[in-house]
Amino acid sequence: MRSFFHRNFLCIGHRGSPSTAPENTLRGFEQAIGDGADAIELDVQLVAGALVVIHDEELDRTTSGSGRVDALSLDLLRGLDAGDGERVPLLEEVLELVAGRVGINVELKGPGTAGPTVELLRARAEAPEGILLSAFEHRELEIARSAAPEYPRAALFGRLDRDPVRAATALGAIAVNLHRRTAAPAVVQAARDAGLATLVYTVNDPTEALKLRRVGVAGIFTDCPGAMLEALAAED
Ligand code: G3P
Ligand code: CA
Repeated sequence: MRSFFHRNFLCIGHRGSPSTAPENTLRGFEQAIGDGADAIELDVQLVAGALVVIHDEELDRTTSGSGRVDALSLDLLRGLDAGDGERVPLLEEVLELVAGRVGINVELKGPGTAGPTVELLRARAEAPEGILLSAFEHRELEIARSAAPEYPRAALFGRLDRDPVRAATALGAIAVNLHRRTAAPAVVQAARDAGLATLVYTVNDPTEALKLRRVGVAGIFTDCPGAMLEALAAED
């Protein structure tokens, strides 16, 4: 089993490897792993009591369906094409596919996802060191913390409308996950001083990735893990 933070600078497949395979699909996650990604990131929503892996609240951009994700029954949702004949996976299917080969960042999208997610992780005896839970909605991280404190958490931010280090520390998180436009060196350093890792999304330009690595960022989420790893290796 590979632990999530297994090396200094992580290249995390953002929703799999969407530059080469449909996002948030089993094919995309397998592609990211095959490309050498250190970990994968995925988005989980609760639909009809099931944890499904899909980013948007609407079906239109990534599937053959339209309208709200939560307006469909699970059967209808699973009957849609999520790209190249793939279907919208269940979180359990992704855990099964990955099988500890790389770390998984489960981004909890929407209310009610934390409880069922940690319940599933525990039921499957998923090793905590291979998992990182994150959420923009920090309430979900509080729920995860009280239900299953052993699964590490990252406080996820869009705009920095509050002190990320203070917020992450209050949540007992081990990382702050920042938008690339907010990952200033001073913020990264403040996180390091507080013992927190910083992960930055979404970085597709190797030059930017190298700059972030130099200022102490612990990893990036990228849409093109294969190309990114190749470019970074050329710099080593
Ligand atoms: O977790 C990092 C990133 O995935 C957050 O933004 O919109 O791509 O889910 P988004
Ligand atoms: Ca995400």
